[in-house]
Amino acid sequence: MYFDHAATSWPKPPEVLAAMQACLERAGGNPGRSGHRAAVEAHRTLREARRKVAGLLGGVDPDRVVFTLNGTDALNLAIKGAVRPGDHVVYTAADHNSVHRPVHALMLRGVITSTCVDVDGDGVVDPDEVRCAITGRTRLVALPHASNVTGVIQPARDVIRAVHEHDALVLLDAAQTAGVLDLKVGEISADLVAFPGHKALRGPTGTGILYVGPRADLQPLREGGTGGESDSPLQPEALPTRMEAGTPNTVGIAGLSAALDVVRPETALAHERALLRRLVSRLEEVRGIRVLGPADVERRVGVLSLTIEGVDPQDAAAILDESFDLAVRAGLHCAPNLHRALGTYPSGTLRVSFGVSNTEAEVDALAEALKQIAAQT
Ligand SMILES: Cc1ncc(COP(=O)(O)O)c(C=O)c1O
Repeated sequence: MYFDHAATSWPKPPEVLAAMQACLERAGGNPGRSGHRAAVEAHRTLREARRKVAGLLGGVDPDRVVFTLNGTDALNLAIKGAVRPGDHVVYTAADHNSVHRPVHALMLRGVITSTCVDVDGDGVVDPDEVRCAITGRTRLVALPHASNVTGVIQPARDVIRAVHEHDALVLLDAAQTAGVLDLKVGEISADLVAFPGHKALRGPTGTGILYVGPRADLQPLREGGTGGESDSPLQPEALPTRMEAGTPNTVGIAGLSAALDVVRPETALAHERALLRRLVSRLEEVRGIRVLGPADVERRVGVLSLTIEGVDPQDAAAILDESFDLAVRAGLHCAPNLHRALGTYPSGTLRVSFGVSNTEAEVDALAEALKQIAAQT
């Protein structure tokens, strides 16, 4: 029983597998590189996928959709591409290391300065604190749309409104919300939106997306072959090629494209919240189990962290795996600053994350296993 969808969703829809196989069989050329049919078909596959992602984002210009390796790659392209020497970056204690580490690396190199905005006891960012952290030099403010530790949804619109009172850009890390929450850029107004294709969107690993809005002027992180303008030593100016040097992951993107046809964000969110509600109510009476984050599941995506008094999360995860055949994740979940704020540093938490394939019976089995582990201490 698989409860680690926040790391990557699994199993993938059969349509994804079929599309990847069909791509290898029929669209095996290198997109944008040659004029023969296999290359043209590969190019068409990419264009179609870009159009679908643009639709998911509320009908943005497909050329502003950049395919990346994963969520981390999209965040790196956004952060390192947006800042210039002397800039200031604001991020939050709720951020994943995929934001924290690139920001930290730029600081160590003396390129930027930064401010980390704290969170409250539920891991929520206060828009006023973000407003206070912005200086005349702030180029970029990064915010996770929802936490990968507690699943709590951040007040993104309020934060973005606060940031846009200034000149700064907003980078929304939608790793845990793409595929479950509305990502219409026209409504949330983020300048840059980064997300993997392999979590709730249910595409294969090796896929990610960066939406680059009109206010953002990104320097490419990688230069190289794009198939066009070959006589120039310069990376092309136009998106998406500007940010997509090298042969793309056509097979993975074909799988993602098929996933986008079957993913139903609203249904997925309702299903995951129903499972959350069930698990929380099953655990309420269990002595020694503490569920982190807000009690109201409407404030969460399908991710939940808990601790069991007297049991190290790693040990609990190993017991769940070996004795109960239940796959969860234990530890800091790449978000150490959030654990400091939640009081769960350094051992972290046990994280349960749901996907559309999970059932009520599986949740009951998980609750029963957790009860037994808690009873043994
Ligand atoms: C909030 C958040 N940001 C970024 C990432 C990185 O995404 P990826 O694993 O696709 O690199 C994750 C992955 O778990 C995440 O949860």
